[in-house]
Formats: sequence, structure tokens, C-alpha cells
Amino acid sequence: MKHDARAPGLLLRVERVSRDFGGLRALDGVDFEVAAGEVLCIIGPNGCGKTTLFNLITGQVRPGGGRVCFDGRELSGLGPDRVARLGVARKFQVPSVFEDLTVRENLGVARFAAPAGAALPEPEAVLSDIGLGDVAGELAGALSHGRKQWLEVGMLLAQAPRLVLLDEPTAGMTGAETMATVELVRRASRRRGMACVVVEHDMRFVEALDARVLVMLAGRLVADGRFAEVRRLPAVREAYLGRRA
Ligand SMILES: Nc1ncnc2c1ncn2[C@@H]1O[C@H](COP(=O)(O)OP(=O)(O)OP(=O)(O)O)[C@@H](O)[C@H]1O
Ligand SMILES: [Mg+2]
Repeated sequence: MKHDARAPGLLLRVERVSRDFGGLRALDGVDFEVAAGEVLCIIGPNGCGKTTLFNLITGQVRPGGGRVCFDGRELSGLGPDRVARLGVARKFQVPSVFEDLTVRENLGVARFAAPAGAALPEPEAVLSDIGLGDVAGELAGALSHGRKQWLEVGMLLAQAPRLVLLDEPTAGMTGAETMATVELVRRASRRRGMACVVVEHDMRFVEALDARVLVMLAGRLVADGRFAEVRRLPAVREAYLGRRA
């Protein structure tokens, strides 16, 4: 079905994007849409193109073919700064917080990076979103790995984005931290009204989130549905087999 780029509720539209690196087709005709406020996961084996897809949305990588539209505006050709200023926030796999600042100060710094004119949430509200209210005065460097990851998500929330892209947010977390991250993503999206796309290898996270799942294999989107529906597909079992041990 063809959608108008400004259809109500439509936030992100990835339209038949392709990208080659030398002889490798990293993305091949990837096509999907994300509604405002929607939460979804992208799964698929190592090297199938998940991070490249994020790079393409955020302007780090240009599409070879196709285009990306955000809120009715074409992003292709805009650099990462411009895309960020439109309200797309992104978390990389390795947490990068200011270790010598407190948790609350880290959130304060993040506010300075927000787009001009954005209605920013109060730091206390973000502390509550990420569950770090009790350690707000502690140095970020003293936090556990999992809490640093949550703080980094909080630094994105502090900028009032409309779309958050999280690349393997539970990497290196304990099982309990992983489950708490499911709640954090749900809570943050509900309270802040933002859409959230999560690339994740941990099937415990994907199952517990119980959201829409896009399945990628070798640069292509091979399934798009609720986790309960797509988990039985052969392509998904392949993706499971391809995941990290
Ligand atoms: N800048 C680049 N130059 C050359 N090849 C690249 C570049 N970026 C990605 N690739 C290649 O494109 C393919 C897709 O990589 P990508 O990082 O998107 O995979 P991924 O699905 O995120 O994998 P992982 O689960 O391991 O993070 C890989 O074969 C990778 O080596
Ligand atoms: Mg990746």
C-alpha cells in the first residue's frame, strides 16, 4: 500500500533503500515505516545490515538507492547534525557518558545538545524514566555497565527526541538489567511520546518487549510482524542461529 509521506501518525519512512560497500550489498531494497510513538525491534544475524540501516537514517552513510523521510521531509543528503536537530537521537553500542560528572550533571550536559526551541523534560523526570533517581548525585564513572547504558538513554531522552534509535542497548547487561531495559524503553516511549527502534540480539529482550519486529537477513527485510507471529518463520530461526553465542 502506498502511503502519503505526510500521512497522519507516520513518522519515519524508509523507502527501498540500498547501499553497497565495494562488491558487498549491505542493504538491498529495505522498505518500512514507523508511526509516531511506535516501539519496534530489528533482529538479524551479525553483518546483516542493522547498524548500516541506522547509519543511513542518521546521515552517517548515504543511500545508494531509495530514500529516507522523517516527518514528511526527505533526510537523504542531510548530515548527522541536521538529522539530529530534526529530533532523531541515536545510541551507539558502547556507552559514552562523562565519567567525572554526576548522573544529574550528565543529563544537564545533554540538554545543551537539544534542538533549539525543543520543550525539554525536567532532569528529575528523566531520572525517573531511567530509574536512576537514587544515584543522581553519584559520579557516572562509578555506575555499573548496565546503569551507564541507561544513563546514556537518559541523555537522549533529555533532548526530547521524536525518534530514538538504540543499537544493542542490552549488550553486556545481566538478565535482570536486560528485563529492566524492556521496562525503561516502554516507560520512556509512553511518557515522552517518542518512537523507538531497537536493534537487539538478545531474544529475551525481544520476547519480553512483545512489540513489532523487523527481521533482516543479508541486507534484506524478510519479515515484519509481532514477535509472536514472526518467531516461527524459518527466516527468524536462521536469524536466531546467526546470533552471537
Ligand atoms: N563503512 C563500511 N565499509 C565497508 N563495509 C561496511 C561498512 N559498514 C558496514 N559494512 C559491511 O556491511 C555489512 C553490514 O554491516 P552492519 O554493521 O550493518 O551489520 P550488523 O547487522 O549491524 O551486524 P552486527 O550484528 O554484528 O552489529 C557487513 O558485511 C559489514 O562488514
Ligand atoms: Mg551492528
